[in-house]
Amino acid sequence: MDPASPQVVVVGSCMTDLVSLTPRLPKAGETIHGSKFFIGFGGKGANQCIQASRLGARTAMVCKVGEDSFGNNYIENFKKNEVCTDFVFQTGAAATGAASIIVNAEGQNAIVIVAGANLLLDSEDLTKATAAITGARVIVCQLEISPEVTLEALKIAHKGGVRTIFNPAPAIADLDPAFYTHSNIFCCNESEAEILTGVQVRSPSDAEAAGSVLLARGCHIVLVTLGGEGCVIVSKEDPNPKHIETHKVKAVDTTGAGDSFLGALAFFMAYYPQLSIEEMVKRSNHIASVSVQAAGTQTSYPYRRDLPQDIFS
Ligand code: RIB
Repeated sequence: MDPASPQVVVVGSCMTDLVSLTPRLPKAGETIHGSKFFIGFGGKGANQCIQASRLGARTAMVCKVGEDSFGNNYIENFKKNEVCTDFVFQTGAAATGAASIIVNAEGQNAIVIVAGANLLLDSEDLTKATAAITGARVIVCQLEISPEVTLEALKIAHKGGVRTIFNPAPAIADLDPAFYTHSNIFCCNESEAEILTGVQVRSPSDAEAAGSVLLARGCHIVLVTLGGEGCVIVSKEDPNPKHIETHKVKAVDTTGAGDSFLGALAFFMAYYPQLSIEEMVKRSNHIASVSVQAAGTQTSYPYRRDLPQDIFS
């Protein structure tokens, strides 16, 4: 393994986030006034990659953007964040993905994505990135690109002995069972856990129940994130599920907090493999809690220098 090559590889999405801040989420058919609008860099895959990079990971992104200004700007954004762009492909056949995001006064959000070019990332692109994927320590995937391509990436990594983190977002009710058996870490939030299992997740004990259902489908470790309530870990190695709480903060904007958590987790798995999963989750929770205290997605993600240095011990 060459430490100079990317150690965290994300195969996933890039979106341009079009964000409106409003007092509350509008009802169907309703028009309401917002207080602010801004455009930012988002997409679950890219968010996770950029958080890992800001913590000091060597990262590469495998993704597809359009041959448009949003796509060109995104490539510049990766470069500024020291993400390897060798596998950021461009297409003239679709526009760069976009996300319309509404954030209410409590920092909660509603998001619609139009994935566009993300859905054109294909097997040929993965073939070009195979050496980078199998040369990494950790690969991270989500569901904002084609599920078939996502599963193929997880299979390539798994076969090559690379640890896999899979974030089934947005969730698909009838997920191919192979996703579970190719995920070392399967990490979803409350609503995704509910779609995947049918178990309503309103509390840590609900999360344990849903996590146990997911674990039985073949993954090694299941994490169910619970926003301000932290995260529940259900693992094959430990019969007792664990609830890792997070310290309470005043949330300004929770958009992308789960991505900050996953980018941080990928960083710790790649660079601090000796830590227990509980400790990695605790540290990743802290990093995600910093991200919710500022507006925007990647704009709110901390750099290594902004964090207490004992997080890196
Ligand atoms: O998880 C947050 C992200 O979801 C946003 O950045 C948006 O682009 C959507 O992909």
